[in-house]
Amino acid sequence: MAAKSVKSVYFCQSCGYESAKWMGQCPGCRAWNTMVEEPVRALPKSSGRGHAPGQAARPGAAHASTLGEIAADEGVRYDTGIGEFNRVLGSGLVRGALTLIGGDPGIGKSTLLLQVARHMGAAGLKILYVSGEESLSQIKLRAERIGSFTDDLKFLCETDLDTILTVIEAEKPSVLIIDSIQTMASSEVSAAPGSVSQVREATALLLKIAKSEGISVFIVGHVTKEGTVAGPRVLEHMVDTVLYFEGDRHASYRILRAVKNRFGSTNEIGVFEMGEQGLSEVENPSQFMLEGRPAGASGSVVTCAIEGTRPILMEVQALVARTSFGFPRRQATGADLNRVNLLLAVLEKRVGLTLSDCDAYVNLAGGVRLQEPALDLGICLAVASSFRNQAMPQALAAFGEVGLSGEVRAVSLCDLRVAEAGRLGFTDCILPAAQAGRIKNAGNVRIHGVKNLQEAMEAVREIG
Ligand code: TYD
Ligand code: MG
Repeated sequence: MAAKSVKSVYFCQSCGYESAKWMGQCPGCRAWNTMVEEPVRALPKSSGRGHAPGQAARPGAAHASTLGEIAADEGVRYDTGIGEFNRVLGSGLVRGALTLIGGDPGIGKSTLLLQVARHMGAAGLKILYVSGEESLSQIKLRAERIGSFTDDLKFLCETDLDTILTVIEAEKPSVLIIDSIQTMASSEVSAAPGSVSQVREATALLLKIAKSEGISVFIVGHVTKEGTVAGPRVLEHMVDTVLYFEGDRHASYRILRAVKNRFGSTNEIGVFEMGEQGLSEVENPSQFMLEGRPAGASGSVVTCAIEGTRPILMEVQALVARTSFGFPRRQATGADLNRVNLLLAVLEKRVGLTLSDCDAYVNLAGGVRLQEPALDLGICLAVASSFRNQAMPQALAAFGEVGLSGEVRAVSLCDLRVAEAGRLGFTDCILPAAQAGRIKNAGNVRIHGVKNLQEAMEAVREIG
């Protein structure tokens, strides 16, 4: 064995930037006071730089390949049994893929993976679920809420990676779930579990297993508050797929979002609802987002956004009230505040609404977060409706980007948005004039093309 020398390096806890000396500001992500010192033990040579993941070691035979020599791996995909999950992954789970699932503690990551494990186990795949966070009896309690399980699913409570590797060798699972990466520790690294170097080493090891054994690995990573343990951001570049599970812990809906995917499209989302028996898929998110819409209230407009490849109708709410303390308050929940401020200025200057002495609150109902420019027209109409205290027509949907001169500009996938509105019973759509003539599948939806905000307001009056 080579002698092990101990030295220190500094890591940024938010982005994983590595440096030989301490710095107040991280050059990688520009965050302040995120560099922490961690001891790093030089690894023995044998476990150092190895062969590329997925390839057998060929001593003395470094060899570059032509495309023709590379066998096309069709890429086996497993059905996870959950449609929304399959779609976010890109039509199923790829064999040998390393997938990171990040999210706040308590959002439902363990529940989601347990349900995936249940379905895949029932389909005859061998699954190993390793938990470093909960005891076996806690897992059993959760599992009982979810349903019955087959014996193809095995559980292990362990945080030591070397032990886990031994179990993997014995069990030879097709799918491995590590819950969570922050609790895992390898004896090769002397830093504490959850530290940047430990989390990275553990992930590198799992990557090797995933590629060499063809095991699909899920890694759970908590998104943590600054300064505690290394979060999933540190790992994003190492894994094949990064999914974030988000939503308000106190509300029942959850959104699974792909932010990186080597095997499918990003920006695809899956919508789930947390209930008594675990998570259930929400197949019609539009309907879900519009539930409980107030009838005849001012400041509420339905707009249509695109998430990934899927149109989602949602309600934009605005509340405009006179400022009581001089400086007007502006707040946006779900939408981008800078964008909202810009639209308020456009409304003031181009439509003549005196909003400068009003507080304005804009909210995307259902707790979604979106930054699509197509929401602009919905936001403007909602603000105008609240300002004038006039309710919008109930069966109206509006979308379009609003420019600084108050013009309504074209948006992508117009047909899809109109079709979705029609499917949910909307009878009128206000959309950019440039696209109004080209809608093919309007069905029963009346199309109102508008060139600018003024025309949009007139269209609303005509419909109402
Ligand atoms: P969990 O999967 O433990 O979250 P994470 O692994 O992301 O930390 O989910 C925990 C929350 O979900 C907890 O507050 C209880 C709730 N829950 C339900 O509401 N219904 C259920 O059937 C289950 C299993 C959990
Ligand atoms: Mg958990």
